[in-house]
Amino acid sequence: MALSRRTFIEKLAVVGGMSLAMAGMEALGFGFASAQAAPPTLTGRGKGTKVVVLGAGLAGMTAAYELTKAGYEVQVIEARSFAGGRCQSARKGFTHTDLIGNTQVCDFDEGLYINHGPWRIPYHHRSTLHYTKLFGVALESFVNDNDASYVYMEKGAGPLTGKAIRKGQIASDMRGYAAELMAKAAAKGGLDLPLTPDDRNKFIAYLVSQGRLSPKTLAYGPTEGRGFDIPHGAGVDPGPGKLSSPFALADVIHSDTWKALEPLGDHEQQLTMLQPVGGMDHLAKGFERHVGQLIRYDTEVQKLVQDDKGVEVFVTGKDGKTGSIKADYCICTIPLSVLRNLDIAVTAPFKAAMAGPAYAAVNKIGLQMKRRFWEEDHFIYGGHITTDIPGIGSISLPSTGWQGQKGVLLGYYAFGAEAARISAKSPADRAAFAVAAGQKVFPQYAESFETAFSFSWHLAQYNLGGWAEWSEDARATAYPVLCEPNGRLYLAGEHLSYLGGWQAGAIESAWQQIGRLHARVNAA
Ligand code: ALA
Repeated sequence: MALSRRTFIEKLAVVGGMSLAMAGMEALGFGFASAQAAPPTLTGRGKGTKVVVLGAGLAGMTAAYELTKAGYEVQVIEARSFAGGRCQSARKGFTHTDLIGNTQVCDFDEGLYINHGPWRIPYHHRSTLHYTKLFGVALESFVNDNDASYVYMEKGAGPLTGKAIRKGQIASDMRGYAAELMAKAAAKGGLDLPLTPDDRNKFIAYLVSQGRLSPKTLAYGPTEGRGFDIPHGAGVDPGPGKLSSPFALADVIHSDTWKALEPLGDHEQQLTMLQPVGGMDHLAKGFERHVGQLIRYDTEVQKLVQDDKGVEVFVTGKDGKTGSIKADYCICTIPLSVLRNLDIAVTAPFKAAMAGPAYAAVNKIGLQMKRRFWEEDHFIYGGHITTDIPGIGSISLPSTGWQGQKGVLLGYYAFGAEAARISAKSPADRAAFAVAAGQKVFPQYAESFETAFSFSWHLAQYNLGGWAEWSEDARATAYPVLCEPNGRLYLAGEHLSYLGGWQAGAIESAWQQIGRLHARVNAA
C-alpha cells in the first residue's frame, strides 16, 4: 500500500526524530532550510489556507511574512496599537502605562532613544540578521565590552572598594598574576603538564604573552597594555610617559572587581555586537512595512476554540466591541505568562505544560544626560559599568552618537527580586534612585541628568515578564509538549526556543512552526 506523504513523514519522525522527518520533507519539496540561517522554503500548497496569528511581535510577524509569501491568507491580532512585541524603543512621545497605573510619556530630545527591550545582536544570530538585511535595517556596532569602562564594587573589602576602577586594569592584573603563578610553576617543573619540554617552553611563552610577563623573571609588573598614569606623546615632556602600577593581587581579589571580567564561553555575549541605527524598533518597523496591512491593532484575544475543521478566536477591540476570527490554523505567540490566563481550548496536558516556565522580572531605565561626560571626562565610548550597587545590575553607555552633545544611557538593568523592588517605586523615584547610584561612579551624573524613561517587563500588561525561564525539569517535561501543535494551534516565540530572551529565539521558533504547519497542510 502506498504511503500518503503525511504517513511517510510521520514514519520518518518515528524512526529518526525531527531531523529525519525534516530531511524527508525537504525531499518532498516543502522542507526546511537551515534551522538558524534562513526561513524554511515553503514550496507546495499554501493557497487558500487561512492562518490567524496571535501577536505582532517578531515571531508573529515572521510567521505572517513567510506564510503570506507562500500563499496563505494571514490575519494578525495585536493587543497593542503598534507592532514589534518586545522589540520596542522609547523616544519622544512613546507612552507606557504599567500595571501599577504609572503612565510615562518619554520626553527625550529628538534623535535620542533607549532600547528598553532587546538591544544587542550577536553575529551568529543569523536569523535576526537575515531580516535586518532583507528589510534594509542599517546596523552599527554595539560595544559589549570596553576596557576603558569602570567597575564599581562597594560590597567587597580593601582599598579598591567603593572606587571606579578601569576594567582593563583589573583584567590586566588578574591575567598577569594568574599567568605569573602558572609560568613560574611550569618553569620549575611544578605543574604536571602533559607536554614535552619543548612544548612546555611554548606554553610558558604563551603565558608570558598573555600575562604581559617579563620573559626573564616571569614576573608581572607595570606594562603598556595596562595603561599609563601619564600618557606618552610628542615632544620631550612627558617623554616616555609613566606606566600605571598594578594593584596588589589581594586587593583585586578582596574588592570583587574581578567578577566584572567576562568569562570565556558565553556564546551570546560577544565582545562586539550589533544594533540597528536609531533604535531596535527599526527591525519591528521593517517587518511592519511588509505585514502591517495584515495586522488588526488594539485587539485583545479573549478566547480560542477549535475542532477538527478549524479555529475561532474571540477578540475585544479597544472600543469594547467583540468579534471573532475563524481560520484553519492558529499560530499563537502570546507569552505563556499571559496565555495561561486566557480561555484557550487545548488538552489538559498542554494546559498543564503552559504553567511550566517562570517569567523574568526585569527592569531598565534610560537617563538623558545633557552632556556626554563619560566620553568627554572619562574617555569611555560605549560598554557597561559593572557594579554591585543593589538594583542597578549594570549601567550602560550608548554605542551611538559618539561625541554628540547629549546622550541617553542605561541607568540600570536589574533582574529578579531587585527588579521587583525598584519597579514598586514611582517613575520619579526610580529615576532618583538610578541617578543617586550613578553619582557614586561618575561625579557629573546628577548635575547632567535631565529626564528618564523606565520600563519593567513584569509590569507590562501584555508581557508579564521579560522572557521565559525554564527550569531543567520543565525544559524536559513541559517544553516538548508545547513545541508540538495542539490540534490546530501552534505556539511560537522566544519561550519555545533555547534562545530565551533573544529575538533570534522568536524568529527561529516561528520558522520551525510554520515549516511544520506547511508540511501538514501539504501532507493532508
Ligand atoms: N538577551 C538579553 C540581553 O541581551 C537578555 O540583555
